[in-house]
Amino acid sequence: VTVKNSHADILERLQRIQQATREHRQAHGCGAYTFEDGYGLIDLVQSVRAMRVVELGTALGFTACCLAQGHESTHVDTVEADETHVRLARKNISDMGLAANITVHQGLFIDTLANLVPGYDVAFFDGFAPSIAVLDQVKDLLRNNGLLICANTSLADSEERQKLDRYFNNTDFWLMKTPIEHGQTRVCVKR
Ligand SMILES: C[S@@+](CC[C@H](N)C(=O)[O-])C[C@H]1O[C@@H](n2cnc3c(N)ncnc32)[C@H](O)[C@@H]1O
Repeated sequence: VTVKNSHADILERLQRIQQATREHRQAHGCGAYTFEDGYGLIDLVQSVRAMRVVELGTALGFTACCLAQGHESTHVDTVEADETHVRLARKNISDMGLAANITVHQGLFIDTLANLVPGYDVAFFDGFAPSIAVLDQVKDLLRNNGLLICANTSLADSEERQKLDRYFNNTDFWLMKTPIEHGQTRVCVKR
């Protein structure tokens, strides 16, 4: 077992990207708040053996690298508009040895998602407040029984939050599972 590939080494390197994201956000004054439950993401992708994952909101690549831990041939398509974030994420992903597993698409969610091929096992939304228009696009990209992990619903204003509650509580479309990130991030299965 080489040190490079040990489980502890991967976790430590993931934590370094997460810490670099915190430092970058302060220096850049941007909205790249890093996700606080990388273990929760890794557990979910491993439990469903996710082979195809789509992520919205790459920042510096921390969560894309977590989502790529499902299986050695998992592929993650991750979308980010900010060109500095894209450049730093590509570097971090390459340093993790995950360049073949993760494609960073530079662009807006709404434009980029329209060009992806449906059939994803898992989708992770970690942009700013989610919009129903983007969540609908994500739903179309997921396969039946695919998993949607949706962060940042609390960032929406109260009217939008009510719409999001109604959206996720529609059992014709979604089956709610136990949330992650201390209850702040929704997890649901596409019906
Ligand atoms: C909360 S941060 C992502 C954090 C990252 N997942 C992590 O845990 O380190 C949100 C990111 O989404 C990007 N973003 C927000 N809205 C976007 C949009 N409509 N299209 C593309 N990127 C967007 C921002 O530039 C930012 O880098």
